[in-house]
Amino acid sequence: MKEPVVPEGILTLDRSGHVPLSEQIYRSFRSAVRGGLMPSGTRLPSTRRLATSLGVARNTVNAAYELLEAEGIISVKVGAASRITEGLPLEGSPGRNAEPQHSPGLSGRGLQMSENVRGEGAASRHGALQPGAPALDCFPYEEWARCLRRAARMERSSDLQYQNYSGIPALKQQLADHLAAERGVRAEPEQILITSSMQASLSLLSQALADPGDEAWLEEPGYLGARTAFRVAGLRIRPLPTDQLGADVTRLANTGVAPRLIYVTPSHQYPLGVRMPLARRLALLEATRLAGAVILEDDYDSEFLFSGRPVAALYGLAEEGQVIYLGTFSKSLMPGLRVAYCVVPAVLVDPLMRMLRNMGCAANVQAQAALARFMESGAYQKHLRTIRKIYEERGALLVRSLTERLGNRIEAEPPNGNVQVSVKFRGPLNDIDVARAMQERGFSVSPLSNCYLGENSLSGLIIGFADATPQQIAQGVNALGAILDEFQS
Ligand SMILES: Cc1ncc(COP(=O)(O)O)c(C=O)c1O
Repeated sequence: MKEPVVPEGILTLDRSGHVPLSEQIYRSFRSAVRGGLMPSGTRLPSTRRLATSLGVARNTVNAAYELLEAEGIISVKVGAASRITEGLPLEGSPGRNAEPQHSPGLSGRGLQMSENVRGEGAASRHGALQPGAPALDCFPYEEWARCLRRAARMERSSDLQYQNYSGIPALKQQLADHLAAERGVRAEPEQILITSSMQASLSLLSQALADPGDEAWLEEPGYLGARTAFRVAGLRIRPLPTDQLGADVTRLANTGVAPRLIYVTPSHQYPLGVRMPLARRLALLEATRLAGAVILEDDYDSEFLFSGRPVAALYGLAEEGQVIYLGTFSKSLMPGLRVAYCVVPAVLVDPLMRMLRNMGCAANVQAQAALARFMESGAYQKHLRTIRKIYEERGALLVRSLTERLGNRIEAEPPNGNVQVSVKFRGPLNDIDVARAMQERGFSVSPLSNCYLGENSLSGLIIGFADATPQQIAQGVNALGAILDEFQS
């Protein structure tokens, strides 16, 4: 009988050494069978013959045939040619390159959860001047490496097993001390849940505390991450009017629908950067009490206010259970750390801990242990002092450059904290178009109007400064000047 040959094009080997040759032969045959190129019963060349024709060692082909046999793709009989096994369920199914006959579709919930709420003109995450980005050049890498090394050696700790889904006790204790001293947030360490981001906390809490169709109030303009979390949870979002004194609940007094959740940034409103005075805070707490709602207080950046004494968190003024306090290390350290936290009422600790477990979204334990050590050693406080100064200088430089070059067209106040600043256009301009033009020039700024749900939005840009070099700031301001010239000519 004639020695069988492998159909043309099935076996092309990449000899760069990245994938073992036996693996490549195995995968090629498997794909050929799946693609219908080698039907059941097809005879395979002998290992010797194939090895010679491919210029590889016989053992290489043997290894590939053994894998194929182990998976039942070929049948090997002593003294006879190996054959593609009869009646393989794989047979004739489309290969990798074939047209898909059935592709998995998203469910209604999947569509909702994967919606791009950042919307039109939202900044890509690759350019300079990106809002929300802390300075990676200021991160204390050496000190952090020491803490991580120590955390990596933590052998036989029960923290490393399937437990402590809501965070490790050492970090909770550090946070409890830190929040009491710096933010007036007094809570037992057990009331602190560690999550992987503020976004995770917001998603967790909006799903835990409200049902689809319930109402949630969100500052207008407000943080898109909170809008995302509410949308994902199927909540109806009502814009909460916000002005130079922060969110004003009295303006929603007659809506007739009680909210379940109210999201606010009282220490430093996002994106306007204003601080909510006491009278507004008390009004907010009273409205919350009457509605039986829960406030989600996002205190994302108040640890590095540049000047003046930070006002204590709203949490400290509230009755037990009225406010859930949320913080993150994304701004003071870096988002890639994936560590954030929330302070919840004692009655919610166990159910939320089980939710974290059920949803499988707890934070990395070694990162938590390193962070606990980093805080305990005083390195975190030292780092906060450093970035306060550097961020203040960078923010001031950005606003000074913008005002000097474009002061007749934009309005901007030197920021008193945060990693980004909102700049308003003086004339009518489509900020989505301007943001897009900036992005095309390599600057990842965001349109201010994206932070509004309603029609009456301010037009402007949100520009990051914390991670910017003086050169990037100068280039960004020049680019914006050129774009405004073009748009307004
Ligand atoms: C108001 C506000 N909250 C939270 C965050 C992000 O927190 P995380 O990275 O932990 O999700 C940001 C980031 O830009 C923010 O601006």
